[in-house]
Amino acid sequence: MKKHKVAVTRHEHFSAAHRLHNPAWDEATNRRLFGLCNLPNYHGHNYELKVKVCGPIDSETGFVMDMKILSDLIQKYVLTVFDHKNLNIDIEAFKELNPTAENIVVVIYDLLRPHIPQAYDLFIRLYETPRNYADYWGESINE
Ligand code: NI
Repeated sequence: MKKHKVAVTRHEHFSAAHRLHNPAWDEATNRRLFGLCNLPNYHGHNYELKVKVCGPIDSETGFVMDMKILSDLIQKYVLTVFDHKNLNIDIEAFKELNPTAENIVVVIYDLLRPHIPQAYDLFIRLYETPRNYADYWGESINE
C-alpha cells in the first residue's frame, strides 16, 4: 500500500551570544568581513529554529512523528546546549569553528540526527535574524 510522505515541523527558539572571527586573519580583515559581528566583547541573537521531519504517516497514530517526542528531543539535545550560552566559549564545536548560522545549523543537525529514526528525512532551518536564515539537510560535497 502506498503511504503518503508528509513533513512536520517544530518551531523552537533560543538566545545565544557569539563573535565571528577568523584567527588566521588580521584585525582589519576580520572587521571588514564580519563587521559588527566581529566586535571583541560578543553580541547576542534571538535564534529561531525550525526542525522538519519528513516520512510516512503512521497508520495507527496518524502522525509522522509525535510532536511531543520531537519537542523533547530538541529540548534535550539542542536547547539545553545552546540557550543563553556564549557559543564561542561554551560549546566545544565552536572552539575551532566560526559560529555563523551556517556552521550552527550543521552542528544542530548532527546533534539531532542520531535521535531521529533513519527512515525519516531531517531538515533544519535556523534564523539568525528575521531576514537571514540557513538550511541544512545532511548533504555534503567532496572537495
Ligand atoms: Ni552575530
